[in-house]
Amino acid sequence: MVINVCIGSACHLKGSYDIIKIFEKLIEENKLSEKLSVKASFCLGNCVGAVSVKFDDKVYSVQPDTANEFFESVVREKVC
Ligand code: FES
Repeated sequence: MVINVCIGSACHLKGSYDIIKIFEKLIEENKLSEKLSVKASFCLGNCVGAVSVKFDDKVYSVQPDTANEFFESVVREKVC
């Protein structure tokens, strides 16, 4: 599965790269790299909800300080 993190300008300003780093770290810590990867993506059409993260065909609004929680509650459940 892939977590797509928007790096369009609105999302970039709100911390896309921090979120990518947080997800990469969590994937490594949880040894999920065979099942899960993070990719940067262009505008996901949800700029008001920046930072936009697309996972399993849904677009979510994630902030650097909610990225951990998002990973635990949304991503982990689907991947594990
Ligand atoms: S810039 Fe991220 S959704 Fe548009």
